[in-house]
Amino acid sequence: MAEVRKIEPISKVQLWDGSTAWLATRYADIKQLLNDRALSSDTLRPGFPQSSETAASFRKGQRVFARMDPPQHDVHRLMLTADFMIRRVRGYRPYLDAMIDEVFEGMEKSGGPVDLVQTLALPVPSRVITKLLDLPPEDSDFFLDRVQKAMSLDSTPEESQQAGADTLAYFARVIEERWDSDADDLISRLVRGRVRTGELTPEELQHMLHLILVGGFDTTANMIALGTLLFLENPDQIKKLRENPDLAPAAVEELLRYLSVAHHVAYRQAAEDTSIGGIDIRAGEGVIAPIMAANHDPEAFPDPEKFDITRDARGHLAFGYGVHQCLGQPLARVELQAVFAKIFDRFPNLRLVEKVENLEFHNSIIYGVESVLVDW
Ligand code: HEM
Repeated sequence: MAEVRKIEPISKVQLWDGSTAWLATRYADIKQLLNDRALSSDTLRPGFPQSSETAASFRKGQRVFARMDPPQHDVHRLMLTADFMIRRVRGYRPYLDAMIDEVFEGMEKSGGPVDLVQTLALPVPSRVITKLLDLPPEDSDFFLDRVQKAMSLDSTPEESQQAGADTLAYFARVIEERWDSDADDLISRLVRGRVRTGELTPEELQHMLHLILVGGFDTTANMIALGTLLFLENPDQIKKLRENPDLAPAAVEELLRYLSVAHHVAYRQAAEDTSIGGIDIRAGEGVIAPIMAANHDPEAFPDPEKFDITRDARGHLAFGYGVHQCLGQPLARVELQAVFAKIFDRFPNLRLVEKVENLEFHNSIIYGVESVLVDW
Protein backbone atom coordinates (compact mmCIF):
# COMPACT_ATOMS: atom_id res chain seq x y z
CA MET A 1 0.00 0.00 0.00
CA ALA A 2 2.87 2.39 0.84
CA GLU A 3 4.32 1.84 -2.67
CA VAL A 4 0.97 2.41 -4.40
CA ARG A 5 0.46 5.56 -2.31
CA LYS A 6 3.74 6.96 -3.65
CA ILE A 7 3.21 6.04 -7.30
CA GLU A 8 -0.54 6.41 -7.87
CA PRO A 9 -2.39 7.44 -4.69
CA ILE A 10 -5.80 6.88 -6.28
CA SER A 11 -5.68 3.98 -8.69
CA LYS A 12 -8.16 1.79 -10.58
CA VAL A 13 -8.01 -1.79 -9.32
CA GLN A 14 -9.62 -5.00 -10.47
CA LEU A 15 -11.72 -6.89 -7.92
CA TRP A 16 -12.21 -10.65 -7.51
CA ASP A 17 -15.27 -10.66 -9.83
CA GLY A 18 -13.52 -8.80 -12.66
CA SER A 19 -15.20 -5.47 -11.86
CA THR A 20 -13.09 -2.36 -11.20
CA ALA A 21 -13.09 0.26 -8.47
CA TRP A 22 -11.04 3.28 -7.39
CA LEU A 23 -8.67 2.52 -4.52
CA ALA A 24 -7.62 5.48 -2.37
CA THR A 25 -4.47 5.21 -0.25
CA ARG A 26 -3.85 8.70 1.21
CA TYR A 27 -5.30 9.73 4.58
CA ALA A 28 -6.66 13.03 3.20
CA ASP A 29 -8.40 11.37 0.23
CA ILE A 30 -9.87 8.56 2.33
CA LYS A 31 -11.22 11.02 4.89
CA GLN A 32 -12.77 13.15 2.14
CA LEU A 33 -14.20 10.10 0.47
CA LEU A 34 -15.84 8.82 3.67
CA ASN A 35 -17.46 12.24 4.06
CA ASP A 36 -18.63 12.60 0.44
CA ARG A 37 -22.42 12.61 0.17
CA ALA A 38 -22.15 11.71 -3.54
CA LEU A 39 -20.92 8.26 -2.48
CA SER A 40 -23.47 5.63 -1.49
CA SER A 41 -23.20 2.79 1.05
CA ASP A 42 -26.23 0.99 -0.36
CA THR A 43 -24.99 -2.49 -1.26
CA LEU A 44 -28.23 -3.26 -3.11
CA ARG A 45 -27.24 -0.82 -5.90
CA PRO A 46 -26.29 -2.72 -9.08
CA GLY A 47 -22.53 -2.83 -9.49
CA PHE A 48 -21.74 -1.99 -5.84
CA PRO A 49 -18.08 -3.06 -5.26
CA GLN A 50 -17.44 -5.98 -2.90
CA SER A 51 -14.25 -7.39 -1.38
CA SER A 52 -15.23 -11.04 -1.96
CA GLU A 53 -18.19 -13.25 -2.82
CA THR A 54 -18.80 -13.98 0.86
CA ALA A 55 -18.63 -10.30 1.81
CA ALA A 56 -21.10 -9.60 -1.00
CA SER A 57 -23.62 -12.11 0.31
CA PHE A 58 -23.07 -11.00 3.91
CA ARG A 59 -23.67 -7.35 3.03
CA LYS A 60 -26.60 -8.03 0.71
CA GLY A 61 -28.42 -9.65 3.62
CA GLN A 62 -27.88 -6.58 5.81
CA ARG A 63 -30.89 -4.28 5.38
CA VAL A 64 -29.60 -1.86 7.97
CA PHE A 65 -28.71 1.78 8.29
CA ALA A 66 -25.01 0.97 7.88
CA ARG A 67 -25.92 0.11 4.28
CA MET A 68 -28.41 2.94 3.75
CA ASP A 69 -27.87 6.53 2.66
CA PRO A 70 -29.29 9.66 4.26
CA PRO A 71 -32.06 10.58 4.91
CA GLN A 72 -33.26 7.01 5.67
CA HIS A 73 -29.92 6.18 7.33
CA ASP A 74 -30.23 9.11 9.74
CA VAL A 75 -33.81 8.23 10.75
CA HIS A 76 -32.80 4.71 11.79
CA ARG A 77 -29.47 5.66 13.37
CA LEU A 78 -31.16 8.34 15.48
CA MET A 79 -33.30 5.67 17.13
CA LEU A 80 -30.12 4.32 18.77
CA THR A 81 -27.89 7.34 19.34
CA ALA A 82 -29.02 8.16 22.90
CA ASP A 83 -28.10 4.65 24.07
CA PHE A 84 -24.59 4.94 22.66
CA MET A 85 -23.75 8.45 23.85
CA ILE A 86 -20.53 8.91 25.83
CA ARG A 87 -22.30 9.90 29.03
CA ARG A 88 -24.56 6.84 28.89
CA VAL A 89 -21.83 4.30 28.09
CA ARG A 90 -19.44 5.62 30.75
CA GLY A 91 -21.95 4.11 33.15
CA TYR A 92 -20.67 0.69 32.03
CA ARG A 93 -17.18 1.32 33.44
CA PRO A 94 -17.83 0.05 37.02
CA TYR A 95 -19.47 -3.08 35.58
CA LEU A 96 -16.53 -3.57 33.22
CA ASP A 97 -13.92 -3.02 35.94
CA ALA A 98 -15.59 -5.60 38.17
CA MET A 99 -15.98 -8.07 35.31
CA ILE A 100 -12.36 -7.68 34.19
CA ASP A 101 -11.13 -8.15 37.80
CA GLU A 102 -13.15 -11.34 37.93
CA VAL A 103 -11.59 -12.56 34.65
CA PHE A 104 -8.09 -11.73 35.95
CA GLU A 105 -8.79 -13.58 39.20
CA GLY A 106 -9.89 -16.61 37.20
CA MET A 107 -6.70 -16.42 35.16
CA GLU A 108 -4.56 -16.23 38.28
CA LYS A 109 -6.35 -19.18 39.89
CA SER A 110 -5.93 -21.29 36.74
CA GLY A 111 -2.15 -20.88 37.11
CA GLY A 112 -1.71 -20.37 33.33
CA PRO A 113 -1.08 -20.63 30.50
CA VAL A 114 -4.42 -19.38 29.12
CA ASP A 115 -5.78 -18.40 25.74
CA LEU A 116 -6.37 -14.68 26.00
CA VAL A 117 -8.97 -14.73 23.21
CA GLN A 118 -11.28 -17.15 25.03
CA THR A 119 -10.55 -15.87 28.54
CA LEU A 120 -10.64 -12.11 28.09
CA ALA A 121 -11.06 -10.78 24.54
CA LEU A 122 -14.36 -12.50 23.73
CA PRO A 123 -16.06 -12.36 27.16
CA VAL A 124 -15.64 -8.57 27.54
CA PRO A 125 -17.66 -7.41 24.49
CA SER A 126 -20.04 -10.36 24.66
CA ARG A 127 -20.99 -9.62 28.27
CA VAL A 128 -21.38 -5.92 27.45
CA ILE A 129 -23.65 -6.64 24.48
CA THR A 130 -25.76 -9.15 26.38
CA LYS A 131 -26.11 -6.56 29.14
CA LEU A 132 -26.95 -3.79 26.64
CA LEU A 133 -29.64 -5.92 24.99
CA ASP A 134 -30.60 -7.80 28.17
CA LEU A 135 -29.99 -11.24 26.65
CA PRO A 136 -29.00 -14.43 28.52
CA PRO A 137 -25.17 -14.45 28.82
CA GLU A 138 -25.18 -18.17 27.94
CA ASP A 139 -26.33 -17.25 24.41
CA SER A 140 -22.91 -15.64 23.77
CA ASP A 141 -21.42 -18.80 22.25
CA PHE A 142 -24.24 -18.90 19.72
CA PHE A 143 -23.71 -15.23 18.78
CA LEU A 144 -20.00 -15.59 18.47
CA ASP A 145 -20.24 -18.64 16.26
CA ARG A 146 -22.77 -16.97 13.94
CA VAL A 147 -21.01 -13.58 13.81
CA GLN A 148 -17.70 -15.24 12.96
CA LYS A 149 -19.28 -17.51 10.32
CA ALA A 150 -21.15 -14.59 8.78
CA MET A 151 -18.02 -12.45 8.46
CA SER A 152 -15.29 -14.98 7.74
CA LEU A 153 -13.98 -14.79 4.19
CA ASP A 154 -13.36 -18.55 4.51
CA SER A 155 -17.13 -19.18 4.83
CA THR A 156 -19.00 -19.98 1.65
CA PRO A 157 -21.70 -17.43 0.69
CA GLU A 158 -24.31 -20.03 1.80
CA GLU A 159 -22.67 -20.51 5.23
CA SER A 160 -22.44 -16.76 5.69
CA GLN A 161 -26.10 -16.26 4.75
CA GLN A 162 -27.26 -19.12 6.99
CA ALA A 163 -25.34 -17.65 9.95
CA GLY A 164 -27.06 -14.30 9.36
CA ALA A 165 -30.47 -15.99 9.03
CA ASP A 166 -29.96 -17.86 12.34
CA THR A 167 -29.23 -14.63 14.19
CA LEU A 168 -32.21 -12.85 12.61
CA ALA A 169 -34.47 -15.75 13.65
CA TYR A 170 -33.10 -15.49 17.20
CA PHE A 171 -33.91 -11.78 17.32
CA ALA A 172 -37.37 -12.40 15.81
CA ARG A 173 -38.11 -14.62 18.83
CA VAL A 174 -36.76 -12.04 21.29
CA ILE A 175 -38.88 -9.28 19.70
CA GLU A 176 -41.97 -11.46 19.95
CA GLU A 177 -41.25 -12.25 23.60
CA ARG A 178 -40.86 -8.55 24.41
CA TRP A 179 -43.88 -7.38 22.42
CA ASP A 180 -45.89 -6.41 25.53
CA SER A 181 -42.93 -5.74 27.79
CA ASP A 182 -42.77 -2.51 29.77
CA ALA A 183 -39.13 -3.14 30.75
CA ASP A 184 -36.40 -0.55 30.23
CA ASP A 185 -33.93 -2.59 28.13
CA LEU A 186 -33.07 -1.31 24.64
CA ILE A 187 -35.03 -3.99 22.76
CA SER A 188 -38.22 -3.55 24.82
CA ARG A 189 -38.00 0.23 24.37
CA LEU A 190 -37.54 -0.08 20.61
CA VAL A 191 -40.42 -2.57 20.33
CA ARG A 192 -42.68 -0.29 22.38
CA GLY A 193 -41.59 3.07 20.98
CA ARG A 194 -40.78 2.26 17.33
CA VAL A 195 -42.16 -1.08 16.20
CA ARG A 196 -45.61 -1.00 17.78
CA THR A 197 -46.00 2.58 16.56
CA GLY A 198 -45.28 1.48 12.98
CA GLU A 199 -42.03 3.49 12.57
CA LEU A 200 -39.95 0.33 12.23
CA THR A 201 -41.01 -3.12 11.04
CA PRO A 202 -40.09 -6.12 13.22
CA GLU A 203 -37.76 -7.23 10.39
CA GLU A 204 -35.99 -3.86 10.42
CA LEU A 205 -35.48 -4.15 14.17
CA GLN A 206 -34.08 -7.69 13.74
CA HIS A 207 -31.54 -6.32 11.26
CA MET A 208 -30.70 -3.39 13.55
CA LEU A 209 -29.97 -5.74 16.46
CA HIS A 210 -27.94 -7.97 14.17
CA LEU A 211 -25.89 -4.91 13.17
CA ILE A 212 -25.18 -4.05 16.82
CA LEU A 213 -24.00 -7.61 17.36
CA VAL A 214 -21.86 -7.77 14.24
CA GLY A 215 -20.50 -4.25 14.76
CA GLY A 216 -19.69 -4.60 18.42
CA PHE A 217 -18.53 -8.13 19.07
CA ASP A 218 -15.69 -9.27 16.85
CA THR A 219 -14.26 -5.76 16.40
CA THR A 220 -13.74 -5.11 20.10
CA ALA A 221 -12.67 -8.70 20.84
CA ASN A 222 -9.97 -8.56 18.17
CA MET A 223 -8.79 -5.18 19.40
CA ILE A 224 -8.29 -6.66 22.88
CA ALA A 225 -6.44 -9.76 21.65
CA LEU A 226 -4.32 -8.04 18.99
CA GLY A 227 -3.75 -5.03 21.24
CA THR A 228 -2.31 -7.20 24.01
CA LEU A 229 -0.18 -8.99 21.45
CA LEU A 230 1.12 -5.69 20.07
CA PHE A 231 2.06 -4.50 23.56
CA LEU A 232 3.82 -7.79 24.31
CA GLU A 233 5.88 -7.29 21.15
CA ASN A 234 6.75 -3.76 22.37
CA PRO A 235 7.78 -4.07 26.04
CA ASP A 236 9.07 -0.47 26.08
CA GLN A 237 5.46 0.66 25.53
CA ILE A 238 4.23 -1.53 28.42
CA LYS A 239 6.86 0.17 30.60
CA LYS A 240 5.63 3.62 29.54
CA LEU A 241 2.01 2.71 30.26
CA ARG A 242 2.84 1.26 33.68
CA GLU A 243 4.90 4.31 34.60
CA ASN A 244 2.11 6.64 33.52
CA PRO A 245 -1.35 5.00 33.72
CA ASP A 246 -2.93 8.26 32.49
CA LEU A 247 -1.62 7.25 29.07
CA ALA A 248 -4.31 4.50 28.82
CA PRO A 249 -6.75 6.58 26.66
CA ALA A 250 -3.93 7.69 24.33
CA ALA A 251 -2.67 4.10 24.16
CA VAL A 252 -6.13 2.93 23.09
CA GLU A 253 -6.20 5.53 20.27
CA GLU A 254 -2.78 4.38 19.10
CA LEU A 255 -3.91 0.73 19.19
CA LEU A 256 -6.98 1.66 17.15
CA ARG A 257 -4.83 3.51 14.61
CA TYR A 258 -2.10 0.93 14.38
CA LEU A 259 -4.35 -2.14 14.16
CA SER A 260 -7.24 -0.68 12.09
CA VAL A 261 -9.13 -3.98 12.49
CA ALA A 262 -12.14 -2.93 10.37
CA HIS A 263 -9.95 -3.32 7.31
CA HIS A 264 -12.62 -4.40 4.81
CA VAL A 265 -15.57 -2.19 5.67
CA ALA A 266 -15.45 1.05 3.76
CA TYR A 267 -16.68 0.25 0.26
CA ARG A 268 -18.79 2.81 -1.58
CA GLN A 269 -20.33 3.51 -4.98
CA ALA A 270 -20.69 6.93 -6.60
CA ALA A 271 -24.38 7.82 -6.85
CA GLU A 272 -23.42 11.03 -8.68
CA ASP A 273 -20.27 12.28 -10.40
CA THR A 274 -17.71 13.54 -7.89
CA SER A 275 -13.97 14.04 -7.61
CA ILE A 276 -11.41 13.00 -5.04
CA GLY A 277 -7.75 13.98 -4.91
CA GLY A 278 -7.97 15.45 -8.42
CA ILE A 279 -9.49 12.28 -9.92
CA ASP A 280 -12.97 12.39 -11.48
CA ILE A 281 -15.23 9.62 -10.26
CA ARG A 282 -18.25 8.91 -12.46
CA ALA A 283 -21.69 7.89 -11.16
CA GLY A 284 -21.83 4.10 -10.86
CA GLU A 285 -18.11 3.64 -10.21
CA GLY A 286 -16.95 1.80 -7.11
CA VAL A 287 -14.64 3.35 -4.51
CA ILE A 288 -12.62 1.64 -1.77
CA ALA A 289 -11.43 3.52 1.30
CA PRO A 290 -9.00 1.26 3.20
CA ILE A 291 -8.93 2.52 6.76
CA MET A 292 -5.60 0.76 7.36
CA ALA A 293 -3.97 2.73 4.51
CA ALA A 294 -5.26 6.05 5.90
CA ASN A 295 -4.04 5.26 9.40
CA HIS A 296 -0.58 4.31 8.13
CA ASP A 297 -0.08 7.32 5.85
CA PRO A 298 3.17 9.05 6.93
CA GLU A 299 1.70 12.41 5.89
CA ALA A 300 -0.87 12.04 8.69
CA PHE A 301 1.09 9.94 11.21
CA PRO A 302 4.89 10.30 10.97
CA ASP A 303 6.78 7.00 11.20
CA PRO A 304 3.43 5.15 10.97
CA GLU A 305 4.80 1.62 11.47
CA LYS A 306 6.07 2.59 14.92
CA PHE A 307 3.68 1.71 17.73
CA ASP A 308 4.05 4.67 20.06
CA ILE A 309 1.48 5.29 22.79
CA THR A 310 2.79 8.82 23.38
CA ARG A 311 2.00 9.99 19.85
CA ASP A 312 -1.18 11.95 19.15
CA ALA A 313 -3.19 9.34 17.26
CA ARG A 314 -6.47 11.23 17.56
CA GLY A 315 -7.84 11.88 14.12
CA HIS A 316 -7.30 8.24 13.09
CA LEU A 317 -10.05 6.74 10.96
CA ALA A 318 -10.34 3.38 12.74
CA PHE A 319 -14.03 4.11 13.41
CA GLY A 320 -14.60 5.53 9.92
CA TYR A 321 -15.67 9.11 9.27
CA GLY A 322 -18.75 11.01 8.11
CA VAL A 323 -22.35 9.86 8.48
CA HIS A 324 -21.41 6.20 8.96
CA GLN A 325 -18.78 6.85 11.62
CA CYS A 326 -19.04 4.06 14.18
CA LEU A 327 -22.06 4.40 16.41
CA GLY A 328 -20.47 2.17 19.06
CA GLN A 329 -17.16 4.02 19.38
CA PRO A 330 -17.78 5.44 22.87
CA LEU A 331 -18.63 1.94 24.08
CA ALA A 332 -15.61 0.38 22.34
CA ARG A 333 -13.35 3.00 23.94
CA VAL A 334 -14.74 2.35 27.43
CA GLU A 335 -14.18 -1.40 26.98
CA LEU A 336 -10.64 -1.04 25.63
CA GLN A 337 -9.62 1.53 28.23
CA ALA A 338 -10.91 -0.71 31.03
CA VAL A 339 -8.76 -3.61 29.77
CA PHE A 340 -5.54 -1.74 28.97
CA ALA A 341 -5.62 0.37 32.15
CA LYS A 342 -5.16 -2.82 34.17
CA ILE A 343 -3.82 -5.81 32.34
CA PHE A 344 -0.07 -5.14 32.59
CA ASP A 345 -0.21 -4.01 36.22
CA ARG A 346 -2.09 -7.11 37.16
CA PHE A 347 0.24 -9.34 35.10
CA PRO A 348 3.60 -7.56 34.98
CA ASN A 349 5.26 -10.69 33.64
CA LEU A 350 2.70 -11.44 30.95
CA ARG A 351 4.37 -13.15 27.99
CA LEU A 352 3.50 -15.04 24.84
CA VAL A 353 3.81 -18.80 24.97
CA GLU A 354 4.11 -19.16 21.20
CA LYS A 355 6.06 -17.13 18.68
CA VAL A 356 4.01 -14.51 16.83
CA GLU A 357 4.95 -16.20 13.52
CA ASN A 358 3.09 -19.32 14.68
CA LEU A 359 -0.18 -17.58 15.52
CA GLU A 360 -3.14 -17.97 13.21
CA PHE A 361 -4.73 -14.75 11.99
CA HIS A 362 -8.35 -14.36 10.75
CA ASN A 363 -9.23 -14.10 7.12
CA SER A 364 -12.32 -12.02 7.81
CA ILE A 365 -14.01 -8.69 7.20
CA ILE A 366 -12.52 -7.82 10.60
CA TYR A 367 -8.81 -8.51 11.14
CA GLY A 368 -8.15 -10.77 14.11
CA VAL A 369 -6.34 -13.67 15.70
CA GLU A 370 -7.64 -17.16 16.52
CA SER A 371 -5.89 -17.61 19.86
CA VAL A 372 -3.13 -15.98 21.91
CA LEU A 373 -1.66 -18.32 24.51
CA VAL A 374 -0.09 -16.35 27.39
CA ASP A 375 1.65 -17.11 30.67
CA TRP A 376 2.94 -14.83 33.45
C1 HEM B 1 -19.73 1.46 11.93
C2 HEM B 1 -15.28 0.17 13.38
C3 HEM B 1 -17.07 -1.17 17.74
C4 HEM B 1 -21.55 -0.52 16.01
C5 HEM B 1 -18.38 1.29 11.98
C6 HEM B 1 -17.44 1.73 10.94
C7 HEM B 1 -16.21 1.35 11.35
C8 HEM B 1 -16.33 0.69 12.64
C9 HEM B 1 -14.90 1.56 10.60
C10 HEM B 1 -17.80 2.50 9.66
C11 HEM B 1 -18.09 1.60 8.49
C12 HEM B 1 -18.33 2.36 7.19
O1 HEM B 1 -17.99 3.53 7.06
O2 HEM B 1 -18.86 1.73 6.25
C13 HEM B 1 -15.39 -0.31 14.68
C14 HEM B 1 -14.26 -0.72 15.52
C15 HEM B 1 -14.78 -1.10 16.73
C16 HEM B 1 -16.22 -0.93 16.67
C17 HEM B 1 -12.81 -0.71 15.08
C18 HEM B 1 -14.08 -1.61 17.98
C19 HEM B 1 -12.89 -1.26 18.36
C20 HEM B 1 -18.44 -1.07 17.66
C21 HEM B 1 -19.35 -1.34 18.75
C22 HEM B 1 -20.62 -1.19 18.25
C23 HEM B 1 -20.50 -0.80 16.85
C24 HEM B 1 -18.93 -1.72 20.18
C25 HEM B 1 -21.95 -1.39 18.95
C26 HEM B 1 -22.17 -2.14 19.99
C27 HEM B 1 -21.44 0.08 14.76
C28 HEM B 1 -22.57 0.48 13.96
C29 HEM B 1 -22.05 1.05 12.78
C30 HEM B 1 -20.60 0.98 12.90
C31 HEM B 1 -24.04 0.33 14.34
C32 HEM B 1 -22.84 1.63 11.60
C33 HEM B 1 -22.92 3.14 11.73
C34 HEM B 1 -23.62 3.82 10.57
O3 HEM B 1 -23.61 3.31 9.45
O4 HEM B 1 -24.21 4.89 10.81
N1 HEM B 1 -17.67 0.68 13.01
N2 HEM B 1 -16.54 -0.47 15.41
N3 HEM B 1 -19.17 -0.73 16.54
N4 HEM B 1 -20.28 0.39 14.11
FE1 HEM B 1 -18.41 0.08 14.79
